[in-house]
Amino acid sequence: MQTNDQLLVHFENYLAQLELPSEPELLYAPIDYSLAVGGKRLRPLLLLLACQAFSGDCKPALSAAAAVEVFHNFTLLHDDIMDHSAVRRGKPSVAAKWGENVAILSGDAMMITAYRLLCESPAHLLPQVLKVFNTMAMGVCEGQQYDMDFENRQKVTVVEYMRMIELKTSVLLAGAAMIGAQLGGASEADSRKLYKFAVELGLAFQLQDDLLDSYGDERLGKPIGGDILEGKKTYLMITAMSRAGEADREILRSTHTDPVLTREEKIARVREVYDRLEIPRLTEQQISLRFERALALLDTLNLEPARTAGLKAFAEGLMNRKK
Ligand code: IPE
Ligand code: IPE
Ligand code: MG
Ligand code: MG
Ligand code: MG
Repeated sequence: MQTNDQLLVHFENYLAQLELPSEPELLYAPIDYSLAVGGKRLRPLLLLLACQAFSGDCKPALSAAAAVEVFHNFTLLHDDIMDHSAVRRGKPSVAAKWGENVAILSGDAMMITAYRLLCESPAHLLPQVLKVFNTMAMGVCEGQQYDMDFENRQKVTVVEYMRMIELKTSVLLAGAAMIGAQLGGASEADSRKLYKFAVELGLAFQLQDDLLDSYGDERLGKPIGGDILEGKKTYLMITAMSRAGEADREILRSTHTDPVLTREEKIARVREVYDRLEIPRLTEQQISLRFERALALLDTLNLEPARTAGLKAFAEGLMNRKK
């Protein structure tokens, strides 16, 4: 069994030896850039941890782990176009650095690369792994479209919001966990439990992402307030709308399109309402609830505690993240 840090080193080494062509440069350089600037590698780590928990070994899962990380980075290239985000991980987004056309096509090439890597999984497990991957990939697209749809809707319920983030964020973490479990030879029942664990973890993670987007600091690597400026229906916005009186509701509804206010003024004005309505505290409560549910699910797996220690540490490591 390897520690989480060892698994990460293993994964980085695997990723570093993947050789992509160098020409045409505007197709491949953004891929290198996106994979090299280094995110947290949550999805591949979760996949490797799941595989290792059941088989004691992570090697059969390395190519699938790379596939989910490349796929994740592909979604970010397109997400930054759709969200008008010029900064990602403290650096210019691919769209800001090379333009939207480059981000579209390099993103497409990353999705193809993800499938190529996935196909290097052990042949006898490939059909079931591909099935999970396809369902997961389509779920992310569905969630992303709901996220965009909600920007233009006046009213979004918490239930609709939770369904949207389950699709855009949880499904990728859960798919990664399930693929890892399958590659590790887990039973159908255990794979499904691990899937649910990662769904809850993903909900907590996206709720945190919403909270950090309005209340984080520079460690986040993306400018604070992007969701407010885009008019996103985040958990913060939806909860605030449901608690606000008519005057505050009008501020929440219209501030992001106000032609007079600067970016900073818009962010400050919405946050003032959030603070008054105790939205950060309520969001933190929901985050804790989801983390607790995730951890409780881990205990139901048919595995020795030593086998799930890495997964537990992974979940706990996410709980207090600042980036
Ligand atoms: C960003 O995911 C997209 C969301 C689902 C919020 P991460 O925060 O995992 O991105 P990186 O890869 O670590 O930068
Ligand atoms: C990203 O959600 C989810 C996907 C890329 C599918 P966000 O739009 O909230 O992610 P950030 O905040 O840009 O990282
Ligand atoms: Mg988005
Ligand atoms: Mg975004
Ligand atoms: Mg976000």
